[in-house]
Amino acid sequence: MEFVISEATRSELPDVFKLVKALADYENAPEAVTSTILMYQAAFDAKQIFIDVAKIDNKIIGFALYYLTFSTWKGKMMYLEDFFVEKEFRGNGIGSSLFDRFILKSKSLDCVLTKWQVLDWNKTAIDFYEARNARIQKEWWNCLIDL
Ligand code: COA
Repeated sequence: MEFVISEATRSELPDVFKLVKALADYENAPEAVTSTILMYQAAFDAKQIFIDVAKIDNKIIGFALYYLTFSTWKGKMMYLEDFFVEKEFRGNGIGSSLFDRFILKSKSLDCVLTKWQVLDWNKTAIDFYEARNARIQKEWWNCLIDL
């Protein structure tokens, strides 16, 4: 399957947002998406987020969205916020290419750590991460406050 990975452009943000919603559906939380395209544009313009997209025949069918942050224990860190490939295109190496690029970008910016979340029932993703030597810390809980 022929696919191309590239950095998302501003005009591609609506397509990326659609896939964010598709990922929320997959994670059984469609109502959790309350962000807006304006927020994406603001974060993109402020260079707060990196977005790589995978395209087949010029149509976006997968993406990875990540950003820089800081670990007090380790130092410069990249956080992988979302990572998704449309169902019909999975198993063709597209996710691996997106993930490899995320790691390469993190290394090129001198990050010493990457971090992300995975749901405990998401066996496909857990297998994918473990095959890439990710450590999965099952003892840490997420804490959130809506503002
Ligand atoms: N579907 C999924 N995985 C398949 C597959 C299929 N039909 N057929 C084979 N696989 C295997 C591949 O051999 C590969 O194994 P490896 O880890 O030993 O290399 C792995 O599963 C998938 O690799 P790849 O094809 O590079 O990734 P992908 O394009 O399928 O994308 C995900 C991986 C996780 C991004 C994708 O499964 C996905 O979007 N899942 C739903 C959303 C999700 O869980 N996102 C992560 C949230 S934490």
